[in-house]
Amino acid sequence: MALLVGALKLLLSLLLWLNTLTSHCQGKEKIWENQYPFIKHASSFSSSQSSPSPGVKREINKGYDYIIVGGGTAGCPLAATLSQNFSVLLLERGGAPFGNVNVSFMQNFHISLADTSSASASQAFISTDGVINSRARVLGGGTCINAGFYTRASTSYIREVGWDEKLVNESYPWVEKQIVHKPNFAPWQRAVRDGLLEVGIAPFNGFTYDHVYGTKVGGTIFDRFGRRHTAAELLASANPKKLRVLIHATVQKIVFDTTGKRPKAIGVIFKDEKGMQHKAFLSRKKRSEIILSSGAIGSPQLLLLSGIGPKKDLKKFNIPMVLNNPYVGKGMIDNPLNTIFIPTNGPVEQSLIQTVGITKMGVYIEASSGFGQSSNSIHCHHGILSAEVGQLSTIPPRLRTQEAIEAYRKRKRDLPREVFNGGFILEKVARPLSNGKTILINTNIDDNPSITFNYFSHPLDLQKCVNGIRVVEKIVNSKHFTDFSQCDKRTMDRLLNMSVQANVNLIPKQTNDTKFLEQFCKDTVVTIWHYHGGCHVGKVVGPDYMVLGVQRLRVVDGSVFGDSPGTNPQATVLMMGRYMGVKILRERLGRAAGI
Ligand SMILES: Cc1cc2nc3c(=O)[nH]c(=O)nc-3n(C[C@H](O)[C@H](O)[C@H](O)COP(=O)(O)OP(=O)(O)OC[C@H]3O[C@@H](n4cnc5c(N)ncnc54)[C@H](O)[C@@H]3O)c2cc1C
Ligand SMILES: *[C@@H]1O[C@H](CO)[C@@H](O)[C@H](O)[C@H]1NC(C)=O
Ligand SMILES: *[C@@H]1O[C@H](CO)[C@@H](O)[C@H](O)[C@H]1NC(C)=O
Ligand SMILES: *[C@@H]1O[C@H](CO)[C@@H](O)[C@H](O)[C@H]1NC(C)=O
Ligand SMILES: *[C@@H]1O[C@H](CO)[C@@H](O)[C@H](O)[C@H]1NC(C)=O
Ligand SMILES: *[C@@H]1O[C@H](CO)[C@@H](O)[C@H](O)[C@H]1NC(C)=O
Repeated sequence: MALLVGALKLLLSLLLWLNTLTSHCQGKEKIWENQYPFIKHASSFSSSQSSPSPGVKREINKGYDYIIVGGGTAGCPLAATLSQNFSVLLLERGGAPFGNVNVSFMQNFHISLADTSSASASQAFISTDGVINSRARVLGGGTCINAGFYTRASTSYIREVGWDEKLVNESYPWVEKQIVHKPNFAPWQRAVRDGLLEVGIAPFNGFTYDHVYGTKVGGTIFDRFGRRHTAAELLASANPKKLRVLIHATVQKIVFDTTGKRPKAIGVIFKDEKGMQHKAFLSRKKRSEIILSSGAIGSPQLLLLSGIGPKKDLKKFNIPMVLNNPYVGKGMIDNPLNTIFIPTNGPVEQSLIQTVGITKMGVYIEASSGFGQSSNSIHCHHGILSAEVGQLSTIPPRLRTQEAIEAYRKRKRDLPREVFNGGFILEKVARPLSNGKTILINTNIDDNPSITFNYFSHPLDLQKCVNGIRVVEKIVNSKHFTDFSQCDKRTMDRLLNMSVQANVNLIPKQTNDTKFLEQFCKDTVVTIWHYHGGCHVGKVVGPDYMVLGVQRLRVVDGSVFGDSPGTNPQATVLMMGRYMGVKILRERLGRAAGI
């Protein structure tokens, strides 16, 4: 019986999958428009609907109870939840993720990140450190372009930030039931898991979302067919009567009423896909709010462009000052990532992140493998660590340019296919103390501001990295691992000579020399895209994430984090959207909220 049910379920998933495949070819828009009727293009918004002419009371009441800026990882669950009881306008600058092959399939992870067109779901940026990075520009945000690994924050993290543990424990499963899966455990991940255990990153905690010391297998937003499930799908649990989502709606400015004692946010100005400007306003109700969920770069950028930030920076761009706050954009943090490539005797199956070693020395060890099974090296790639997406780890950060990527692309044709056989061990520095800032370079919201992370400027971060590389060395030399890789000396020598051209770092020769390893850490640093900060609690927002010094404005996303939660943050950012939504409903409605 159970077998039959299982078989039927499989058949059903297969049919659904085929359905989306074909829907991609014909009328893909129709399919998602039926499922998400409240998602519309920004140009469908006529300002009169929400830009009330003064004195027309009926129209004034048409303002929204909540305007959420950014339909990303936090913004989507937040909008879905608030719409249960209030009218919500969600504005997202990117398009819809549904039916976009670059978003939907795990195999296309690196293709999506390499797409630098203005229609791409990802927008590349290079921090002043020289590390090439990426931010989302699509409904669903980071969950549409990320590596999918899903793992919760530790209970100590939850306590530190002061969240209600019970509500946290209810909010994670709300997300998980809808979009999280158990991974198809790939051979490379298994090998790294065994290596981690052999070198003492123990115990083995099995498959779990929880953050506990030792080695574990986490969840993923890719299902067993390798199809991605994103935050945008959480909108399916919205109240369709109260939610309106506009895609290609880029918010340029928050509008304030500055006639009272404290500036009060009353609306936003956004432009649509045709470049036309619109204004959307909050309803007159006392507790209406604008909520920024524009991400760690977008939220500080929008505050600055709206006149909240350091006085002299605003003055420089003639932005009328609403509130002088020197901390906006300060404390930008990105966890450094360093990787080691381990060649194998034969090709390994592609895998993004599935297993993690949570060490007590302040580093997390993860794994990823690319694709080396094509007869043509043009189609081979290194997955998460592909040079094509800017992970140029064999060149020191400041030399990583678009030309360097191009040079690699050309060279790649001549590389033997064998250099793609193998995989990476990733070492992420947890809780880095180095930090930097986001500052404007112009007043165009479409452009990236200037972002600085100052990787390894704090000596403790460097020390963690060095210790981490030493752990990776042990894993590489573990019996389990050498049995798996079976790489003969000839291949190794051949690759050693080509490693720079192939853009892979092998284990450094002098791991006993700390100075040498410190330089290795600095020269090979890349990103795992877990950047956060810019709107810190106590500096820019209060403990409830309300922006300090103004009314009716809140920030809910990774920009309020002082530290990236869990080994990887998306689970907690998604949870936070749901959590804050429920918290706001309960505070406003009490028991009547019905949640
Ligand atoms: C390539 C990559 C791989 C990653 N891999 C993993 C992983 O495997 N596991 C994991 O846990 N985490 C991973 N992360 C990190 C994780 O995805 C992010 O930390 C998280 O998605 C951030 O969520 P957010 O809500 O803060 O921002 P986002 O999800 O980026 O949401 C911000 C949204 O706001 C929109 N926006 C910005 N400005 C405006 C504006 N002015 N007007 C309108 N809309 C605007 C953006 O288009 C975007 O959709 C990865 C991230 C990336 C980029
Ligand atoms: C996917 O990305 C590639 C480039 O990396 C681009 O050429 C293509 O247009 C993208 N497809 C979609 C549907 O966006
Ligand atoms: C929340 O869940 C975690 C495990 O996921 C557990 O350790 C903790 O005790 C729970 N807290 C509450 C208050 O239920
Ligand atoms: C390494 O590469 C260089 C040129 O790139 C070549 O001259 C040299 O012979 C190679 N060495 C080995 C051992 O293959
Ligand atoms: C590191 O080890 C090598 C031999 O394995 C030795 O020659 C070298 O002197 C050592 N370096 C340091 C700094 O200990
Ligand atoms: C809020 O929404 C929930 C779910 O739709 C409903 O059960 C509850 O009655 C609503 N409360 C109010 C005050 O509207």
